[in-house]
Amino acid sequence: MKIELNKNKVFFNNGKSLQEIHPFWLRERVDGEDFLDKGTQQRLFDPSIMNSEIVIKEAHIKDGFLEVGFNDGVNSKLDLNKLESEFSDKDIIIKSISKKKWDSNLKNVKNFEYKENLFETKEMHDLLVSFYEYGFVIIKNVPTENNYIVKFANSIGSVRRTNFGEHFNVKSKSDPNDLAYTTLHIGPHTDNPYRNPVPCIQMLHCIENEVSGGYSTLVDGYTVSEKLKKEDPEAYKILTDVKVRFKFTDKSVILEDWSELIHLDENEEFKQVRFSPRLDYVPMLEKDKLDQFYKARKKLSDLYNSEKNEVKFKLEPKDLMMMDNHRVLHGRTKFDPEEGKRFLQGCYIDFDSTEGKLRHLKRKFNL
Ligand SMILES: [Fe+2]
Repeated sequence: MKIELNKNKVFFNNGKSLQEIHPFWLRERVDGEDFLDKGTQQRLFDPSIMNSEIVIKEAHIKDGFLEVGFNDGVNSKLDLNKLESEFSDKDIIIKSISKKKWDSNLKNVKNFEYKENLFETKEMHDLLVSFYEYGFVIIKNVPTENNYIVKFANSIGSVRRTNFGEHFNVKSKSDPNDLAYTTLHIGPHTDNPYRNPVPCIQMLHCIENEVSGGYSTLVDGYTVSEKLKKEDPEAYKILTDVKVRFKFTDKSVILEDWSELIHLDENEEFKQVRFSPRLDYVPMLEKDKLDQFYKARKKLSDLYNSEKNEVKFKLEPKDLMMMDNHRVLHGRTKFDPEEGKRFLQGCYIDFDSTEGKLRHLKRKFNL
């Protein structure tokens, strides 16, 4: 990719074709001290109120800069590397991390160790990359005092508060408003499918775990949906087409949102799964279509509930697990509260937190 000049026109050469760059596109990027605030990198002028009939009076390329003068009297030196980095309209930082498929054979996933100032280290960068690859990551030895999980989450980005509070305590209790607060087995599910937007990342921090049961289970929704797509394209199709209603009701709120069980992006590629069979309501479709839908959902549920697709482990005190709630389903096995305490704390953050942190660390360590 290269920037070239022809008379007073600026072109972008991508190796295959030549495309003229709109003079106003360049004028918007003028970055002298009168035009751009150094500290915030925000504009000191408003291009939306300017006349877009801008013409380039002169242009030169010198020492990695495009020197350009416009007909409104403004001259500027624009960094060619910076301009060229804008020619891709894709978010290459996150998209360049490819998802790794996994099932019960998953081994050797690296656990990370908490240390002071972790959040500003190269280790944190590696931790986030691993999170985007597998959809979850475990950090050992995270302090448990004073709801440290909230501090942990806020050191990456910002806690996303939900109807369960800023953070929530997973202990069995009387009169629970969610089965999480019982001692029962909980099948694989994603959290808060009834929220718009659905919280992106769940953190679960083990404070105490004295019981012999209560194992954590994880299933990769990405691997499972790709498997279904291959093995039963029709089932996959209907699950990516039909939107179901997810609903949560308690004394103070009614939350509701509609989505496909497997949600695809604009390129028909995996984007998100939602699965919470305790609170989904399928619309009233034609009987034949519903027949297909129920069969497909059963197939998906069988895959989610199959031991072949599940990893099962016990969270130790001070383990903190981050899970992509748009990709990975979680559950737990039942436990006997007579055996001792089991106490986990949880909270949510969104992808802008982890993505923002990752971009920052890449910039900081020149990665
Ligand atoms: Fe959950």
